[in-house]
Amino acid sequence: MPPTQHHHRWMAEALRQARKGLYSTHPNPRVGCVVVADDVMIAAGWHEYTGGSHAEVNAIESAEIPRGADFYVTLEPCSHHGRTPPCVDALLAVQPARVIVAMQDPNPEVGGRGLDRLRAGGVEVICGVLETQARELNAGFVKRMQQGLPYVSVKMACSLDGRSALGNGISQWITGEPARRDVQFLRARASAILSSAQTVLADDPSLNLRLSRHDLGQAARPRHPVRVLLDSNLRLKGNERIFSSDGEIWIYTCSNNMNKKQKLTELGAQVFGAAANDAGRVALPAMLRDLASRGINEVHTECGQTLAGALIAERLADRIMLYMAPHLLGSGARGSFDLGEINAMAQRKTCRICDIRQVGEDLRLTLDLEQG
Ligand SMILES: NC(=O)c1ccc[n+]([C@@H]2O[C@H](COP(=O)([O-])OP(=O)(O)OC[C@H]3O[C@@H](n4cnc5c(N)ncnc54)[C@H](OP(=O)(O)O)[C@@H]3O)[C@@H](O)[C@H]2O)c1
Repeated sequence: MPPTQHHHRWMAEALRQARKGLYSTHPNPRVGCVVVADDVMIAAGWHEYTGGSHAEVNAIESAEIPRGADFYVTLEPCSHHGRTPPCVDALLAVQPARVIVAMQDPNPEVGGRGLDRLRAGGVEVICGVLETQARELNAGFVKRMQQGLPYVSVKMACSLDGRSALGNGISQWITGEPARRDVQFLRARASAILSSAQTVLADDPSLNLRLSRHDLGQAARPRHPVRVLLDSNLRLKGNERIFSSDGEIWIYTCSNNMNKKQKLTELGAQVFGAAANDAGRVALPAMLRDLASRGINEVHTECGQTLAGALIAERLADRIMLYMAPHLLGSGARGSFDLGEINAMAQRKTCRICDIRQVGEDLRLTLDLEQG
C-alpha cells in the first residue's frame, strides 16, 4: 500500500475513535488515537470528557506498547500541563518511531510546540493527514481557538416554499417526528442552544435534551447543552416552561431592570449584561465572543427568521441545517431568514451544499455559508 494510503487508513480509524466523544468532550476537542506496529492496530484510545485522560494516554494504558510503534493522533499531542500531564511526555516514554497527526493544535499559544518536542526527542513527525476531516470534527473548538468565536449552526424547519411559521407565529410542527428527533442529536453535540425571548414566548419550548445515553451510544450521562436566550428588554417572566426543565440557562439582556434580573436569577438563570446594537437589541458579535470566552465551541440555534437572519446577515453563522417539509404554507406565512431587502444578485448569500438526505417524510440539507 502506498505510504499516503497507509496513513489515511489508520488516521481514519483514529478519527473513528475521536467521534466516540462527539457528545461528551465539550469544551475540549474530540480526539482519537491508534497505535500501529507491523501494520496491525495494537491499541486505541479516545478522549471522553474534560478532565479525563487524553486519547494518547488512554491508548498507551490499554496495551503493552512495543518500542518503535507508530501513533496516529487526530490532534497535535499537548505539551503543557493542563488538568492532566503533557501527552508528549507519555509518548516519548514509550519511544515511538513516528507520530502522525491530522492537525496542529489550533491554539496559537501552543500550536506546534508538541510536535517540536517530539522531533527534539528523536521521533519522526508527519502532520496534516486527513486534516480536513479532523478540522470538521472540531470546527467549534478550532474557530474558538483561532477567532475567539463559536461555530454557529443555524437550524431551521421550513415548508417547501421556505416558510418557518404561519403568519400568526404558529410553527409547531412543520416537520415530522423523525426530523425533530434528528434535531435532538444536533442539540446533543452543541455546547449551547441559542434562542430568543420571542421564540420562548411564542412556543414555550423546553429546549433541552431528551436523548438517553443509549440513544447517544455512550457510557456517560448525556450533557445538557447550556440554553442561551437573547432577551434585550427582559420580556421573559420566569413562568415559561424552560425555567422548570433540566439544564443551565444564560440570558443576555440590554436591560438594567434589577428586579427582573433578580427574579430570573432566583429561578436559576445567569443573567449577563450585553451591549446593544443600533436597534437596541443584543449586539450579536460581542455576545458570541462572550460565549466563546466561557468555553462555548458550537452553537446550535432554535429561533425564528429574525435572529436566524441577523446571524447570517452579520456573517456570524457558519452552517445552516435546513429541515424542509413537503408542505406549502403560502405567502402569508413567515420566511426562514429575514435578511432585509436584497436588490442585487451580487448581494445574495451563497451556500455550499454539503449533504442532502431524507429524514422521515422531510428533507435535511446541510449547507455551509460562504462568507464572501
Ligand atoms: N421553523 C423553525 O425551525 C422555528 C424555530 C424556532 C422558532 N420558530 C418560530 O419563529 C417565531 C419567532 O420568530 P421571530 O422571527 O419572531 O423571532 P426569533 O427570530 O426567534 O427571535 C427574534 C428576537 O430575538 C431577539 N434578539 C435579540 N437580539 C437580537 C439581534 N441582535 N438580532 C435579532 N434578534 C435579536 C429580539 O427580541 P428582543 O428584542 O425582545 O430581545 C427579536 O425579536 C415563533 O413564532 C416560532 O414559532 C420557528
